[in-house]
Order: sequence, then C-alpha cells, then structure tokens
Amino acid sequence: MHDPSPPAFLPCRIDGYTDLPPGKLANLVTYLEVTRPPPPRATVRPDLALVETTRDLEAYRALYRRIGARWLWMGRLALSDAALARTLSDPRLVSRTLLRGGDAIGLMELQFEEDGEAELAYFGLVPEAIGGGIGRWLMDAALAQAFARPIARLMVHTCTFDHPDAVAFYVRSGFRPYKRAIEIHDDPRLAGYYPHETAAERWPVVEG
Ligand SMILES: CC(C)(COP(=O)(O)OP(=O)(O)OC[C@H]1O[C@@H](n2cnc3c(N)ncnc32)[C@H](O)[C@@H]1OP(=O)(O)O)[C@@H](O)C(=O)NCCC(=O)NCCS
Repeated sequence: MHDPSPPAFLPCRIDGYTDLPPGKLANLVTYLEVTRPPPPRATVRPDLALVETTRDLEAYRALYRRIGARWLWMGRLALSDAALARTLSDPRLVSRTLLRGGDAIGLMELQFEEDGEAELAYFGLVPEAIGGGIGRWLMDAALAQAFARPIARLMVHTCTFDHPDAVAFYVRSGFRPYKRAIEIHDDPRLAGYYPHETAAERWPVVEG
C-alpha cells in the first residue's frame, strides 16, 4: 500500500505543467446541469428493470467495483462500513441497480439536496453492457426519476478517468457544461482499492 505524505497544498501553475507528487492522479472534471426534463429517447427495453440497490455492503462494493474499476472509481470504496451504510440509508439518496435477465449490470444514484437541487452521483454500466443502447435507457430512467420531484436542476460531474464519451453522452442527454475543475487525489490502486493492473491499458501506475 502506498504511504502518501505529500504537502496538503500544491502550487499549481495556471499555465503550463505542474508535477504531481508520487501516488497522486489529477482529474479534469467537467460539471454539467440540466434544468428541464428532456423528452425520453431510448427504445423500449422489456429486458431491463431498475430495482432498489442492495444495502448489503459487500454486494454493493462488488457491483461498484465491477462497474467502476475500469474508470478508477474510488469514492464509495473509501468509505468505512459505517459511513457507507449511512450513505446508502440516507433518505435523500435514490440508488437503483439495473438488471438484465436478473443480472446486475448498472448503477444509477441520485442525491437530492434540501435546496431543490439534485446530483446524478453515480451512473454507469458494467463494461460488457456498454455501447448497446442501455446507457440511453438508464439515462431516460434517471431523468424521469430526478424530475419526478420538484427540482430546479440536476447536476452531474464526470472526469478524465470516466468513459471517454461520457461528456458527449451527457450533452446528448440534455446537460449543459457549466464548470471545470482539477481534482488531485490518491491513485486508488496505490491506495490499495484495486490491483495495480486495473485500468493499466489506459492509465498505467506511475510509481515515481
Ligand atoms: C456513460 C455510459 C453509461 C453510457 O452508456 P453507453 O452504453 O455507452 O451508451 P449507449 O450505447 O446507450 O448510448 C450511446 C448512443 O448509442 C446509441 N446506441 C448504441 N447502440 C444502440 C443499440 N443497439 N440500440 C439503440 N441505440 C443504440 C444510443 O441510443 C445512444 O445514442 P444517443 O446518445 O444519440 O441517444 C457508459 O459509457 C458507462 O457506463 N461508462 C462508464 C462509467 C462512466 O463513465 N460513467 C459516466 C461518468 S459518471
């Protein structure tokens, strides 16, 4: 396991390159929003169903890893059992698992806030389900569930490590990009959440 001891603040150049401390990754994050529910676009898929996500922490983490490993998702894995249980039982979180023929193939999570806003906190399919129209079906469901409540806007953010078509997919889904940020965080493989080989074809581990 990597022992990160970098400084808390990194002087970041506003133009040009900034070296990252060992064990860290940098994300270019794009924030997008949609303020009105766009019309549904997917074809009818009787083979797909959305069900409430399990509260079994290990089953949840297993699905999260199946979907997120390739994209180095870490957020939920970094939570302790108590914190993850609290998150999943938060009444403001709508977490749905996508089933095809009884198999879990996707995850969609909406976090509703008290100020009338909501965030599409997680949205993804297992790798073998990507690219066949299922993402569009899941997005229709996410938008319908989000705007079934009186929200002023639905936000999402996606980053460098997500699917390369994610921003374009969200734009085609009616979202408008409104902000970018750089996020510096631990490499989840060096932090012990995934094996070193995970996602190495796109992002090999750099050990410094
Ligand atoms: C983002 C993600 C859910 C999108 O799912 P996807 O399977 O790639 O998307 P789809 O194949 O459903 O949609 C892509 C387009 O192809 C079309 N399409 C492709 N195959 C199709 C088929 N067999 N039948 C109908 N439509 C099809 C879709 O209608 C859609 O067109 P549109 O955008 O113009 O409506 C998926 O890439 C993913 O899970 N990525 C990993 C996690 C991630 O990056 N999440 C986002 C960041 S948080």
